[in-house]
Amino acid sequence: MTFFNEKIDRLNTASVKWEATKEIFGETDLWPMWVADMDFKPPQAVIEAIKKRADHGVFGYTFIPESTKQAIAAWVSKRHSWTIDGSWLLYCSGVVQAISTAIQAFTEEGDRVLLQSPVYTPFFEMIKQNNRTVVNSPLILEGNQYRIDFAAFEEELKKGCKLFLLCSPHNPGGRVWTKDELLQMGELCLKYNCLILSDEIHSDLVYKEYKHTPIASITETLSENVITCIAPSKTFNLAGLQASVAIIKNNTLRKQFDDTLKRQGFFTLNTFGIIAMEAAYLEGEAWLEELMAYLQDNKQYVLNFLQENLPEITCIDSEGTYLLWLDCRKLGLSDQELRASLLQKGRLALEPGTKYGLGGEGFVRMNIACPKEHVIEGLNRLKMAFK
Ligand SMILES: Cc1ncc(COP(=O)(O)O)c(C=O)c1O
Repeated sequence: MTFFNEKIDRLNTASVKWEATKEIFGETDLWPMWVADMDFKPPQAVIEAIKKRADHGVFGYTFIPESTKQAIAAWVSKRHSWTIDGSWLLYCSGVVQAISTAIQAFTEEGDRVLLQSPVYTPFFEMIKQNNRTVVNSPLILEGNQYRIDFAAFEEELKKGCKLFLLCSPHNPGGRVWTKDELLQMGELCLKYNCLILSDEIHSDLVYKEYKHTPIASITETLSENVITCIAPSKTFNLAGLQASVAIIKNNTLRKQFDDTLKRQGFFTLNTFGIIAMEAAYLEGEAWLEELMAYLQDNKQYVLNFLQENLPEITCIDSEGTYLLWLDCRKLGLSDQELRASLLQKGRLALEPGTKYGLGGEGFVRMNIACPKEHVIEGLNRLKMAFK
């Protein structure tokens, strides 16, 4: 656990989280708990593998070797009880690229693409950038937890949607959808002929009482109707290495996706992305177990702190991800006032809830994947902002 206590200076590494606050928030000197990367080093095996490859010194074109495919398949099988074949895999620089590629491959301009707000901002952006139509079936907040409005979901499907962008586990709400919920969504999509892109980038970051189910693993028919996206970037903090995986069992869909990647001129991953991915999936499991225990502890600290110091702010029950979705509505402030207090009084950079679409008003998202002392600093600033 002490590994995760190490405070690492990330300044002068072109870190978006630490050094791009001026561009994003209009201010410097903010305490950064916003964008979803961690302030931790990855497993030592990943660093060693990168160093070894760097020492070789020749960095010509690289393909994705069989050993990497096997490492991915073994990880998915062990962690998520889903047997996949190496031949089902395609690769993208990031999951956002995979989302955009799926939109280009499986829909036409003007087509309706379904999502469930509040949700990760690029879901909206990729639909709009590709001139498709955003169709929203908002999640319902019941008590302290999000659930799906299946009747509204079906209504939208009935009107015709080509693609559903599912966020599983859910960012920003931290829900780890149950098998029943996934099955119900999956069957409705099958009924109305709607493909599913399941963004499972947070699937390894699930707290111990919960279990992630890949939606494609539930039934044979569903496995043919889903494009599943995973990545070592979120799990092992490798976002700068730009490597993600699309798992597509259906041959026709996989060919369509692959052809679209080729049209983009995208053929393979960065050498270090491949090396890091293989090492992480082969040797990162013990590190991940420790990480989850550390995050659980950070989460509990935040919950206790809020209860004692800022009871007007409540945290949505977080079953997975290292992101906490804080309900600030009882403070009675507008989103502009929330932002101004956080930035000017607290000097704290959190993601504004409004970025996540309908239902995000009055919320902020806090990233707790940092040393406990950093969390404490952030919470003290939160208190300064609102007390
Ligand atoms: C749900 C979700 N999808 C995708 C991403 C980013 O993926 P990538 O960096 O691989 O494009 C994030 C990052 O926070 C995310 O939360």
